[in-house]
Amino acid sequence: MLSHFNEFYRGKTVLVTGHTGFKGSWLCIWLKELGARVIGIGLEPLTERDNFILSGIGGKIDADIRADIRDAEKLKELFRLYRPEIVFHLAAQPLVRLSYEIPVQTYEVNVMGTIHVMEAIRSVDSVRAALMITTDKCYENKEQLTGYKENDPMGGYDPYSSSKGSCEIAIQSWRRSFFNPGEYGVRHHMCLASARAGNVVGGGDWAKDRIIPDCIRSVEAGRPIELRSPQAIRPWQHVLEALSGYLLLVKKMWESPREYSGGWNFGPTTATVATVLDITSKLVSELGTGTITDVSGAGEVFHEARLLQLDITKARTELGWSPRLTLDETISLVADWYKRYKEEDVYRICVEQITCFGRL
Ligand SMILES: NC(=O)c1ccc[n+]([C@@H]2O[C@H](COP(=O)([O-])OP(=O)(O)OC[C@H]3O[C@@H](n4cnc5c(N)ncnc54)[C@H](O)[C@@H]3O)[C@@H](O)[C@H]2O)c1
Repeated sequence: MLSHFNEFYRGKTVLVTGHTGFKGSWLCIWLKELGARVIGIGLEPLTERDNFILSGIGGKIDADIRADIRDAEKLKELFRLYRPEIVFHLAAQPLVRLSYEIPVQTYEVNVMGTIHVMEAIRSVDSVRAALMITTDKCYENKEQLTGYKENDPMGGYDPYSSSKGSCEIAIQSWRRSFFNPGEYGVRHHMCLASARAGNVVGGGDWAKDRIIPDCIRSVEAGRPIELRSPQAIRPWQHVLEALSGYLLLVKKMWESPREYSGGWNFGPTTATVATVLDITSKLVSELGTGTITDVSGAGEVFHEARLLQLDITKARTELGWSPRLTLDETISLVADWYKRYKEEDVYRICVEQITCFGRL
C-alpha cells in the first residue's frame, strides 16, 4: 500500500485540517512517509499523550499551523500562502456526548467550518481534489439491519450527527453550485468528495467517551473498565483502514475528476461488527491486564444510536478498496501501540504499523 501510493503523493502539497487530532496525526505521518509536502491546520492538541505530540509529527511536516476554521478570512489567507493542491478536511468537534453540551459550537465548527474550508478552496486556483470527512452518523438512522448506502437520506438525532448530516448537504450544494463535475475544465478544476467512516480505533486516541481511550485510561489507573452499553453493536475499524480509503479516493479523484466526486462509505465488513463487550474483552486479553464491569443503567442517559452499518459496495466496486484487517488484527494493532508508547519512539511505531498494514 505504501509503495502503491508512493509516486502519487510525492512532492504534492497536501493540506490537512485537524492534523493535531487522532486521525489527522496518523494521516500526516502516512503522507509524510509518502513524500508529500504537508500543511497542517488545527487547534492545540488536547493532551500531552496525543499521537500528534508523542510522534513529533508537528516538527516533521512542512507547516504546523494553529488556526480556527471558524475564522473564514484566516483560512483564505493560509490557502493563498500555501496554495495546496489537495485538501483533507478532518477538523471537527467529533464527539456525540460533548455535542449535547455545546450544540451551537458543534454546528459552528462542523457546519460553518466546513463551509469556510470550501470557500477557502474556492478562493485559490491551486486545489484539484478535496475530501471532506464526515461520518456514518450523517445518515438518518433507522436502526435498520442493512447497511446505509451513499444515496440514503441525511439526518442525525443528536447535534453532532445532525451537524455532519448538515455538512453533507452543504458539501452537495457546493459541489452542484461551484464544483459541478459536468463543468469540470470549463468553470473549475476541482473534484469535491466526502467520506463517511464509522468508529475508528487506533493508537494515540485519548478522546473522552470513546471506548478504547476509556479502556486504556481505566487500565492505566488500575480501575475496572465500566461499560455503559456492553451489548451495543458497533462497526469497528482501524484508523488505517479508513485512511487508506481516503488516500486511494483522492488519488482516483485527481486522476479522473469527473468520476469520483460524491459521497463514499468506508466501513468495515460485517465480520468486524461486534459488541462493545466483545471489543473490550479482546483488548483486555491483548493488553494482558484489566477487568470489565457492566454499568448499564447507571448515570445520565443520552440518546445513542444502537446500530449503524455502512454498505461499502460502492468503494469496493468503483475504487477497488476493501478492509484488510480482521477484528483480532485490528485490536492487536491498537493494543500494540498502547503497550509500547511509553518506552519507544512513537513515530517509528506508527510507521511500522502503516508498513505492516501496507503489506497485507
Ligand atoms: N474517530 C472516529 O471514530 C471518527 C468516526 C467518524 C468520523 N470521524 C471524523 O473524523 C474527523 C477526525 O476525527 P478525530 O477522531 O481525529 O477527532 P479529534 O478530536 O482527535 O481531532 C479533531 C481535530 O480537529 C481540530 N479542530 C477542532 N475544532 C477546530 C477548529 N475550530 N478549528 C480548527 N481545528 C479544529 C482539532 O484541533 C483536531 O486537530 C472528524 O471530522 C470526525 O468527525 C471520526
